[in-house]
Amino acid sequence: MNNATADNVLVQLADVRKSYFSNRVETPVLHGINLTMHRGDFVAIMGQSGSGKSTLMNVLGCLDTPTSGTYALAGQNVGNLSRAELAGLRNRTIGFVFQSFNLLKRMSILDNVALPLIYAGVARKSARERARVQLDKVGLAEYATRQPNQLSGGQQQRVAIARALVAEPPLILADEPTGNLDTRTSADIMAVFTELNRERGQSIILVTHEPDIAAFAKRLVRLKDGLVLYDGPAREGLRQMQQDDAKDRAMQDTAAEVNA
Ligand SMILES: Nc1ncnc2c1ncn2[C@@H]1O[C@H](COP(=O)(O)OP(=O)(O)O)[C@@H](O)[C@H]1O
Ligand SMILES: [Mg+2]
Repeated sequence: MNNATADNVLVQLADVRKSYFSNRVETPVLHGINLTMHRGDFVAIMGQSGSGKSTLMNVLGCLDTPTSGTYALAGQNVGNLSRAELAGLRNRTIGFVFQSFNLLKRMSILDNVALPLIYAGVARKSARERARVQLDKVGLAEYATRQPNQLSGGQQQRVAIARALVAEPPLILADEPTGNLDTRTSADIMAVFTELNRERGQSIILVTHEPDIAAFAKRLVRLKDGLVLYDGPAREGLRQMQQDDAKDRAMQDTAAEVNA
C-alpha cells in the first residue's frame, strides 16, 4: 500500500475486547482485535455465525464501545469522546447500510435519502438537491417521488446506499447488505460498491457469509471465536477458506464412517 501514511489511517483497533454482561455474568465475544484500515480500503469481514462480526461492526460504527482496548476513528480516540462528540464523529465519518434496508415507509425515496442531511441541520431545499444527486449516482433519480414499498429489494438497497453516501462520509459500513437479495441483484449491489470504491476511493467494510460476495472486496478479514484468523488479500483468504472447508468436510466424513 503506497498511500499508507498516518493521515490515511481511517480505522485503528488495538487489542479491542468486548464482553456482554447480563446478571453479572460476562460473555466475552471479541478477544483482542487488532485492525488497521486506510482510506480507500474495501474490506469484507467473514466468519461463522456467532464469531463476533456484528459486534465488531457495532464497535466500528460507534454504536457500542469496547470493554477494553482502543479504537481510533479518523484519528480520534473514540474512548475519549463524550456521547455528543461521538455522535458527531459518527455522523461525519460513517454511512450505514443494513440487511433490511431500513427505509422509512411513509416517506418519499428522495426524503429518505435526504434524512441524514436534515439530521445534520442542512436546510430542506439543499438537502433535497444533494439527495437527488446521490439518487442519480445509484441510477434511481426517476424514482424520487415514490415510496419504498413501490421499489424492488435491490432498488431499495440502492436507495439505502444513496442515503449512506449523501453526507459524503469517508467510511461505509454494511452488515450483510445482500442478505435479503437474490444472486443477480446481489451482484448488482456489489457492482455499485465496487464502483464507489474504485472511482471515489470510498472506504467500505462489509460483512457477508458468502464467498462470492466477499470476492468483490480487495481485502478479507476472517473472524473465528472473536479473533482475527486471517487478514490479507481477499483472493488468497478465500482460497484458504475453501481449503479449510474441504478439511472440515473430510473430518466429518471420517467421523460418519467411524460411527457407522
Ligand atoms: N446484546 C448481546 N447480549 C449478549 N450476547 C450477545 C449480544 N449480542 C451478541 N451476543 C452474543 O455474542 C456472540 C457474537 O454475536 P454476533 O457479533 O452477533 O456474531 P455474528 O454477527 O458473527 O453472527 C454470539 O454468541 C451472541 O449470542
Ligand atoms: Mg451478525
